[in-house]
Amino acid sequence: MGFLQLIITIVFLGTTIITNITFTKAQHIHGQRQGRRLADAGDTTGFISIDCGMNTSYTDETTRLNYTPDEAYIESGMNMDILPEYKSETTMQQLINVRSFPEGNKNCYSLRPGQGKRRNYLIRAYFMYGNYDSLNEPPTFDLLLGVDVWDTVKLDNSSHIVIKEIIHTPSTDNLYVCLANTDSGTPFISGLELRLLTDSIYKRSFGSLHLLYRYYTSSTFVNSVVRYKDDAFDRMWNPAVPISGSSIETMSEVGSSNDFSLPSSVMKAALVPKSLGQSIQIYQQATDKSTTFYFFLHVAEILSLRAGQLREFNISINGVKQSKIFNPLYLQTTTIFNQEPITDSYLNITIHKTMNSTLPPILNAMELYKVKNISELSTDEADILAINNIKSFYKRMKDWQGDPCFPKGYSWSGVDCNYDSSNSTRIISLNLSSKGLTGHIAASFADLTAVQILDLSNNNLSGQIPELLTDLPFLKTLNLSVNNFTGSVPKLLLEKSAAGSLSLSMQNNSDLCSSNSCTSKKKISKTLLAHIAAFSAVLVLIVAGFIIFCIHKKKTTRMYGRPSPYHHRSGNGRRKGEFTRFSYSELTSMTKSFQRELGKGGFGVVYYGCLKDGMEVAVKMLSGTVEASEQFTTEVELLMDIRHKNLVSLVGYCEQGPTLALVYEYMAGGNLKTNLLASNSLSWKSRLQIAIDAAQGLEYLHNGCRPPVVHRDVKTANILLNKNLEAKIADFGLSKIFPDESRTHVLTRVMGTPGYLDPQYHQTERLNEKSDVYSFGVVLLELITGKAATVKMGERTGYLVQWAIPIVETGDINLILDERLQQSVENSNSVWRVIDTAMACVKPTANERPTMSLIVAGLKECLGMVIQTEQAASLPDDLAEMCLVTSTTQMAPEPR
Ligand SMILES: *[C@@H]1O[C@H](CO)[C@@H](O)[C@H](O)[C@H]1NC(C)=O
Ligand SMILES: *[C@@H]1O[C@H](CO)[C@@H](O)[C@H](O)[C@H]1NC(C)=O
Ligand SMILES: *[C@@H]1O[C@H](CO)[C@@H](O)[C@H](O)[C@H]1NC(C)=O
Ligand SMILES: *[C@@H]1O[C@H](CO)[C@@H](O)[C@H](O)[C@H]1NC(C)=O
Repeated sequence: MGFLQLIITIVFLGTTIITNITFTKAQHIHGQRQGRRLADAGDTTGFISIDCGMNTSYTDETTRLNYTPDEAYIESGMNMDILPEYKSETTMQQLINVRSFPEGNKNCYSLRPGQGKRRNYLIRAYFMYGNYDSLNEPPTFDLLLGVDVWDTVKLDNSSHIVIKEIIHTPSTDNLYVCLANTDSGTPFISGLELRLLTDSIYKRSFGSLHLLYRYYTSSTFVNSVVRYKDDAFDRMWNPAVPISGSSIETMSEVGSSNDFSLPSSVMKAALVPKSLGQSIQIYQQATDKSTTFYFFLHVAEILSLRAGQLREFNISINGVKQSKIFNPLYLQTTTIFNQEPITDSYLNITIHKTMNSTLPPILNAMELYKVKNISELSTDEADILAINNIKSFYKRMKDWQGDPCFPKGYSWSGVDCNYDSSNSTRIISLNLSSKGLTGHIAASFADLTAVQILDLSNNNLSGQIPELLTDLPFLKTLNLSVNNFTGSVPKLLLEKSAAGSLSLSMQNNSDLCSSNSCTSKKKISKTLLAHIAAFSAVLVLIVAGFIIFCIHKKKTTRMYGRPSPYHHRSGNGRRKGEFTRFSYSELTSMTKSFQRELGKGGFGVVYYGCLKDGMEVAVKMLSGTVEASEQFTTEVELLMDIRHKNLVSLVGYCEQGPTLALVYEYMAGGNLKTNLLASNSLSWKSRLQIAIDAAQGLEYLHNGCRPPVVHRDVKTANILLNKNLEAKIADFGLSKIFPDESRTHVLTRVMGTPGYLDPQYHQTERLNEKSDVYSFGVVLLELITGKAATVKMGERTGYLVQWAIPIVETGDINLILDERLQQSVENSNSVWRVIDTAMACVKPTANERPTMSLIVAGLKECLGMVIQTEQAASLPDDLAEMCLVTSTTQMAPEPR
């Protein structure tokens, strides 16, 4: 079962004067380049390697690339193994299991490359049937890229390996690769890879480049595919042995002098015709009537020419001789390609020597592509949003993936669109009959404003029929029959039905009053509908949050190597007796008579101190108010049990007469608020690290403590930095311990700081840990924007959240990102991720917000991206930053 046997086609057609090459049956990708197996992976920023159908991640033996399982990228399908008889020692690991899609007409992988849209990516998909379903019926199906059909995948037999590859520049951050059922067997996929390419190569005037073939000249039959890490972009170069021509080879390395970065192992051998008069001819018949071709010929002189020898050639394309003369450089790659697209029913490239040349032409490697037109079409955005809300609301339509309407012919099941409109493509019909839907009618139906037919029959839908449906201006057919709707039917619907402009079916809803007489009884209130709308938004968010964060969790822990602090859960902290109880005179001596004031607040003053053993501390003297002593008690009790590297630790306390004081570890870097406002500000990477530290501290309070603790006053002033810029959460004075884990919230007096306060908590006085998540979202916004939690908004002072929401919607990163970072941030995608996280945190209702665990995972992922970009650019400037922050004088727990 040769890996490349399928690719063998005749590339250079041979006739009398033409050099003809036929290709070797190359060996498997596996088993090549033994000596290199242990090479390190190198820079794989911008690589996504997915082994579809696999449950665990692993390092591929040949490329040393890390392959991840696919569950993070797709919601549907099932994992299957190919049959043992199709496995051998040399079978690529990625082919051994597949993900198969017996359900749905289109199933989509959603890739979100870290470098974002409008970059040049190579995308490659692998397929080998291996009779995984024991049906012995190799299927044929379509492969889609975004909203277009990329190609048809036709498997001829069980051992047939098909590889599809395309160079594509996506216009959206999310890139869908879908498998579409064409009624010729169940679609499946074995592997999927994405590789970031340099933007300056494989340029084309439009569309994407679908690979026809990529060969290098090989002098022996035993060579095999060259790919990563020889090829930094992981292009797969297949060996080709000339038959009627001959190959010459050099022992020297061939430099990659251009951006195409050809591996030396690919350029070392070259094809030359046997006699001087012969030319090299490359011929490719188009599959369609007219195809647009792009070719890339890579040449390098590999013989050291003697005086008087000259190798010079020019090229004819489809009979037109090009004026340029090529003169390959010694051991340097030159890439010859067409700058203008060549559109014809065939491509005929002839490489012939010039009059003066004393040597025949030469060719080391070549690539041929055809242009795949990629449309930027997509369904109307409001419709996409609405239908996704409906999807998340009912959670039944797992096969709704990718774009709802595109490609044409592959719309979601039950969805019909109007494609003829010159404007945007709208959803005009939605048939959810017999989908097992439960609950009420999602408010988002009313946002599908072009819909004409809505069929919800044969489900278990209940509740009232919302007035909102009357807002659909083009609704002609509404089928609500066989459900459990109650209440009355909106009057307007009945009127439209009576007037004949709406075909309304409602039979078999036992408790539905469908006569005009009872319509006035009970109308569904606008508020309820608003809640419904909010609820469906919540679900979307939860689903999205899950996909974005959960998924990356495994990857993150690997990528980001700081030791995880929370393996020890609560209960193993020091006992109360282990805190030092200080006397008033000890306080006086440690603070040198309260000499250096670090800060002042509502509850008292904080002083700098130094213990006898040299340990630096911050001493918070509490004023004698009731609140102060309350705070004292809460804090001492809490800190007794809670220890975490991202929570400021209590060293001791003083309770003597009227004196109440808390002694903390000293945080030399001061609080985050001051650091952010300082003129020499923190780098993006430091900010991310601080965000992770603080998030971990909160995560520990929420999940590591029994019972869980809500901080209640998360803000930048309560995030302190030590001299190494590690952040810790301070000030537990307001923290509330959940009295009982089974309860999800506690009613409590509203406290906290304006600008950070969870609006829902504010209104309802119901506290849960999502209130901290809200405040943490504000902290993230401060880290991103460099602004304070309250900002000037024209005349008045507003909250940062209100300021940020419309600006984030503009999508202009320069309006959001701290001006001081704009030059230095190299990975703007990491900024977007943090913005998205912040926006999720400050959602109005608690359910919509992610948990701290998800946030920690997401932030670590972002830091990983930044570190990778940085390593790629190798510009370590961290040392400078640390000096800068340690030298600022601000410090420890800011009192209120
Ligand atoms: C399977 O199909 C491929 C491609 O059509 C063909 O080259 C190969 O010989 C076939 N193998 C077997 C075992 O039939
Ligand atoms: C390709 O072009 C060359 C020279 O322009 C010509 O001699 C040859 O016949 C052409 N080949 C085919 C198959 O059309
Ligand atoms: C061939 O070489 C001669 C002498 O060096 C030069 O004058 C002439 O222009 C060359 N012809 C071409 C086609 O390059
Ligand atoms: C909706 O689909 C069902 C089958 O699933 C079909 O019977 C019904 O006629 C469709 N409704 C409309 C309005 O086309």
